[in-house]
Formats: sequence, structure tokens, C-alpha cells
Amino acid sequence: MPDAPPKSLGNYTIMFESLSAIPEDPLLGVMTAYRRDPNPLKVDLGVGVFKTEDGLTPLPAAIANAARALAAEQTTKVYVGQAGNERFNQAILQLTLGVHHEAPIWGRARALQAPGGCGALRIGAELIRAANPNAAIYVSDPTWANHIPLLGNVGLAIERYPYLDRKAGTVNLAGMLTRLDALPAGSTVLLHGCCHNPTGADLTNEEWLCLVELLERRRLVPFVDMAYQGLADSLEADAYGARLLVSRLPEVLVAVSCSKNFGVYRERTGAIIIASEDSKSVDVAMAHLRRIARGIYSMPPDHGAELVARVWERQELRAQWQAELDSMCQYLNAQREALAARLGALCNEGDYSFLTRQRGMFSLLPLTESQIYRLREAHHIYMAADGRINVAGINSQNVDYLAESVATVVQHA
Ligand code: LMR
Repeated sequence: MPDAPPKSLGNYTIMFESLSAIPEDPLLGVMTAYRRDPNPLKVDLGVGVFKTEDGLTPLPAAIANAARALAAEQTTKVYVGQAGNERFNQAILQLTLGVHHEAPIWGRARALQAPGGCGALRIGAELIRAANPNAAIYVSDPTWANHIPLLGNVGLAIERYPYLDRKAGTVNLAGMLTRLDALPAGSTVLLHGCCHNPTGADLTNEEWLCLVELLERRRLVPFVDMAYQGLADSLEADAYGARLLVSRLPEVLVAVSCSKNFGVYRERTGAIIIASEDSKSVDVAMAHLRRIARGIYSMPPDHGAELVARVWERQELRAQWQAELDSMCQYLNAQREALAARLGALCNEGDYSFLTRQRGMFSLLPLTESQIYRLREAHHIYMAADGRINVAGINSQNVDYLAESVATVVQHA
């Protein structure tokens, strides 16, 4: 039996008593609540992870093959280095910017491995603060809930720009550009490279061109969150915006996550890309990033990065991974079609065709707070509090139940 906890410590001050209770993380809380629900009908549309028709999140075969080879070959776990795995960093530059992009070739874009896309966002924000402590970061309204603490806890002001045209389900380009046109030069604008989280509404190529013209004219610094490359349309098409920004602007940051497209979620595998005017200023920024990282987590974990590097470098593994990624992408778009068709047929009011125009894992269902609550309590359907659904959670076994449940709560509002 372990000892009983101490009963009284007299006048000893308990430091943690000063902490007040706080609610669970809004997205991770949905995952916990879903796991606790014993009802067999339950549907998980919460945290953004890919799922197959069976509701599983398997390791891609290309990653599993790389892991087997690595286990057979690796002989040491000695530190890799402050910038992480350099082969991974090269792979990330090629994946994100393309094999022939001039910026890495001329040394004016470099990558530094980070603990997931979150780690990349965080050290990127730390770098911005080191360079300009008064800078504000402008995020889309709405944006991924975790952007606010990841960027704001660094001490930078977080402001918003309009993003979604809720009626059309597309980007409110005019509203976005009008707001950005009024920002002070040097402000940072957080953009989603593709598969906007939580709306699924992405900029078209023409809209990216309008945006880059404005950012250039107003001397604004884009910080691109690239967490879903390959899951909207294709690896190449999804990188259009990030590549354009790096080509046209003197300073760009890109936070890259491999969680979803390589399926290595728990390995915390990501990187930050810094592009600047010349190699000298990138080298200085990289030195600051290494120092920032050293003061937070010292060095990033290697396993996921080594797997991604191997998949990227070995032709047969890369081809296998690309085929798997393409089928994930097609699956997501098929689930969008299936849900839109059923909701269209069941709901007399409301147009759900926006689901098929949006891309990636997420869309916002136009539901009220109480409808979202009823879906969870009465129908065991779990989604984020703002109506964000992970479309990968839809499958042929639950799509009818899901659509009927949504129609029920909408019609009995
Ligand atoms: C999400 O938005 O659900 C994912 O990016 C997972 C997370 O960490 O929130």
C-alpha cells in the first residue's frame, strides 16, 4: 500500500493552490468525451485525424515499411543536432516549395525541424517577437482554435481579419483584402496553405495572386500554416499559395506539419521554413531559431523525421506514399459528396452544396450551439463547439444516421 497523502502541512504554502480550474482544450475535450461514450451509434467528427471506412487511423504502408527498415538498420540514438535531421529538412523544402524552386537553390530558403506543426508555429512566433516585439499577428476569423495560444502566448498581439463568406461557403476575399490593406507595414498575416481549418474554404489561385500583390504592396509578412498538403487536391496544387509567396516576397515563414499527410501524428514531425531576401539573412534567422528551440525543447524528436526522410528519398516508398495520400484525398472528397447529397435530400431548408466546394478535413455546419449540444447528447455525434466537422469521420456506415440526425435537430429547432 502506498503511504497516505500528507494531511496537513501546517502553514506551508501550496504553490498550485493559486491556480484556478480551467476547462479542457476545446478540441481535445471532444476526443475525450467521444472515447468515454459507450453508445455503439456514436460518431466522431472531432479532432482532425484521417480515418478509413472502418473508423481506423492506420499507419500508411510506406511509413510502416520505412519504420521496419529503420528498426533493422539503426544502431544509435545519439543526438542528431540542433536543426534536427538535415535530410528531413531537405525533404521538407522539396515537398513544400517543389524540387526546382529557386529559393532553396539560392540558399534564401531553409528549413529547421520542429516538434510538429505546433512546434514550428511556436518557434516562428518567437522569432517574429525577437525581430519585432511590437508586431501583431493577424489570423483569419475563424481560425484553428490552437493558433491563438500557440502564437499569442509568445506575447504578440493577436488580431483578426474577415475570412469566410458564410452564405456562399467561400472566402470573403473583398473583406479580407480590405482589412489587410489597412494594416501597418511589417505586420504578420497568418494564412492557411490549403484545407483551411476550420472552414474548408481555400483561396483559389487567382485569389492567391490578388493576395500576394497586396502583401507586397503593403509590406506585410505572411506566415503560412501548411498542415494538410496533399489532402485538398494534390501535393502540387495544394502548395500553389506557399510557393507563390516565397517566389514573390522578401520574407515568408511556413510552418509545415507531417502529422496528417504522412500519418505520423504522435511522432510530432514538422518544420519551419524561413525564406528571406538572401542567404545571409536566412542564416541569421536560422541561428536565432536554433537558440529559441534550445531554450524550449533543445532538439526535436527524430523518429518521425527519419521516416519521412526515408519515404521521400526512396523512389518506391515515395510512390507508395503518394498513392496512399491520393486515396486519402479522394476519400475525403467522396465523404463530402455523400453528406452533401443526403443533407440536400433530407433538409428542406438550407443548401449544403458548400461541402463539396470546400476542401480538406474540415467544414463548418451551420448549426446553433443548442443543435450541436443535442447532436451530442441525443444522437452521440461529436463535433467541435463551433460546428466544425472532421469529414474523415464520415463513412458509408454512419452517413445516413449522421444526415438524419442533423436533419432532425435542424427541423426541430
Ligand atoms: C485539429 O484541428 O483537430 C487538429 O489539428 C488536431 C489538433 O491538435 O487540434
